[in-house]
Amino acid sequence: MPDDVRPSVAVIVVAAGSGTRLGRPEPKAFVEIDGRSILSRSIDSVRGMSEPVSLIVVVPAALVGAASAQLDERRMPAVVVAGGDTRQRSVAAGIEVLAPEVEVVLVHDAARAFTPPEVFDRVVAAVRDRGHGVIPGLPVTDTIKGVADDGTVRDTIDRSQLTAVQTPQGFPRAHIVEAYALAAADFTDDAALVREAGHPVGVVAGSALSFKITTADDLERADDLIRRRSAAAAPALPRTGVGVDAHAFDATAELWLAGLHWPGEAGLAGHSDGDVVAHAICDALLGASGLGDLGSRFGTADPTLAGAHGEVFLQRTREILEAAGFRVGNVSVQVIGNRPRFAPRKTEADALLSGVLGAPVSVSATTTDGLGSAGRGEGLTAIATALVHPSS
Ligand code: CTP
Ligand code: MG
Repeated sequence: MPDDVRPSVAVIVVAAGSGTRLGRPEPKAFVEIDGRSILSRSIDSVRGMSEPVSLIVVVPAALVGAASAQLDERRMPAVVVAGGDTRQRSVAAGIEVLAPEVEVVLVHDAARAFTPPEVFDRVVAAVRDRGHGVIPGLPVTDTIKGVADDGTVRDTIDRSQLTAVQTPQGFPRAHIVEAYALAAADFTDDAALVREAGHPVGVVAGSALSFKITTADDLERADDLIRRRSAAAAPALPRTGVGVDAHAFDATAELWLAGLHWPGEAGLAGHSDGDVVAHAICDALLGASGLGDLGSRFGTADPTLAGAHGEVFLQRTREILEAAGFRVGNVSVQVIGNRPRFAPRKTEADALLSGVLGAPVSVSATTTDGLGSAGRGEGLTAIATALVHPSS
């Protein structure tokens, strides 16, 4: 914040509680959700406000240094002070360090890590507009019963008269300073204290996202929220895969390669027709989509696949991918071996395979200068790479 900006709004974020009900070793505000602390997530909301504010962060005494360093690192100017043994004492510690030019004070629970910045803006605007305290609240949707000491239901409380109250709670500086100076008892929120001092407090719309992380269940809810948000924000990047297949020649069999019949050429041994091109493509596609491989998807025990041509595997692989939400981007495959001479039928092979997969497939072939099993003419190998697109 430049030196000449002197905000008239201060936000006190109270983060000094131990989080007994959450039951974690570290203080609650320092518990991380997907790599970032509850406190830093709350501060993000303050940062999202439409006007610059003066930030005061109240933390356990032992963590003042660490929290200041973290805020500095994130270029978030803030005054960090040590809290007390009740929430009210922690808020009081924040009030102690208000800058002189501050006119509106918001107090926010760090534990409400997902409060939208608009709620902060709404509270500030309403405090200025009405000239008194304002708290965000939500209508109560459950039916609420009064229960007697003996555990029996006494009455049903008219829920239209009720509001579930959240933070940030905002007040004219004079009201909250006076209320804290007069505070005789301990209250669970600031509005109660300000009302006790005789000042009115109004309500504005809160947010369901402002839920307070109190128990392990709440933390799980927070985790789910982050996961859903990152899934929605993450671009669905294309994925690549690789597949290799090799079969030995079997002079007594017909050759089927790249989905084509090659009369007069030595065939390939295998449970199916041994089409290494089709098989390598299937593995590349399944691998790119994280859906296993040929062996795990099409067992040799399946009688419908005995002698099946490559097209059958490709067609079924395409169906598996599409059912899982992927579509084929493109495939490139290379055959390694001395025979057959592939070039004269490349166009035919590309067209056939592209048709089956509904995406461009390009097949090429190479020899190995006499090296290895391919060079000795023992069989054929194919290597395929594939690109797939998650459809979301
Ligand atoms: N708080 C605080 N100082 C305290 C107690 C609470 O600053 N002595 C803060 C908490 O860090 C939290 C907010 O007040 O952000 C709301 O309190 P609560 O949810 O009750 O948190 P804890 O008191 O930490 O949790 P618990 O009551 O389960 O111990
Ligand atoms: Mg508490």
